[in-house]
Amino acid sequence: MSDDLFDFSPKVRQFTVVGNPIEHSKSPQIHQLFAQQFDLRIDYGTTLGEVGGFNQAVQHFEASGGAGLNVTVPFKLDAFHLADQLTPRAEFAGAVNTLWFDGGKIHGDNTDGIGLLNDITNNIGFDLAGKRILLLGAGGAVRGILQPLLEAGPSELVIANRTEGKAIDLAQLFEPHGSVKASTFKALEDQQFDVVINGTAASLQGELPPLPQDCFKPEALAYDLMYAAQPTLFMKWASNAGATHCHDGLGMLVEQAAEAFFIWNQHRPSTAPVISALRSY
Ligand code: ATR
Repeated sequence: MSDDLFDFSPKVRQFTVVGNPIEHSKSPQIHQLFAQQFDLRIDYGTTLGEVGGFNQAVQHFEASGGAGLNVTVPFKLDAFHLADQLTPRAEFAGAVNTLWFDGGKIHGDNTDGIGLLNDITNNIGFDLAGKRILLLGAGGAVRGILQPLLEAGPSELVIANRTEGKAIDLAQLFEPHGSVKASTFKALEDQQFDVVINGTAASLQGELPPLPQDCFKPEALAYDLMYAAQPTLFMKWASNAGATHCHDGLGMLVEQAAEAFFIWNQHRPSTAPVISALRSY
């Protein structure tokens, strides 16, 4: 008689992260560390998506019994279009990083913005209410975090981008949600901010957005959405320019994963031990 007949253990749920490239993703490790906190057994893998083949990859994963997927570069827009049902925050973000299957439908959410907010407010302990925020960049990464940042109640949020038109479009889109305006980098001269968030892809080219040296107010926070084993170029620059708190996006990565884990498994993991564990590797 097969042993399977007497296997009453709960089915191991399957998850994956789809991206291209994907081999360096930390998501499998993060989700396994979360699962251990609840003695949950999960199977969390990586899927290398082919450009133009995202929908097929998701359908294949669902057909093989998958429960949910994380989505990373360059497929967040594909996921947005594929989802049958979007959460309001995914609608605002215009992009999806978390998918799951329920009731015959593909559901999509975006947990990046709430991940950033949780990292800034809970882990770093920085209150954004009443603060003047500068957001650098106007691409998908910045759009994904705008609504939660505005909900935190800053006095003003300025979006500065190399291509000003994109900053203007984003500012107009989010105007109903708070005080937000567009700027060029040049027009930032003689302006000071409590928070400067780097959402540009400049560091990928080993570059920095052209910011004035005196852009930080006292006790300011500089936050890079990118993360690396060493302080990023932007963090080093910000520290030299007088920012008191300088952080990379590792905390945001873990926090966005925690939100996805909660959606899928209805357990809210502790993030601090996972952030420490990742830092120590
Ligand atoms: P993502 O999804 O990561 O946001 P994206 O949509 O391609 O990627 O956006 C990249 C952002 O980084 C844009 O705001 C881009 O500015 P432009 O709109 O002018 O292209 C910005 N960016 C890229 N390289 C940059 C550089 N060297 N200096 C300043 N900004 C840069």
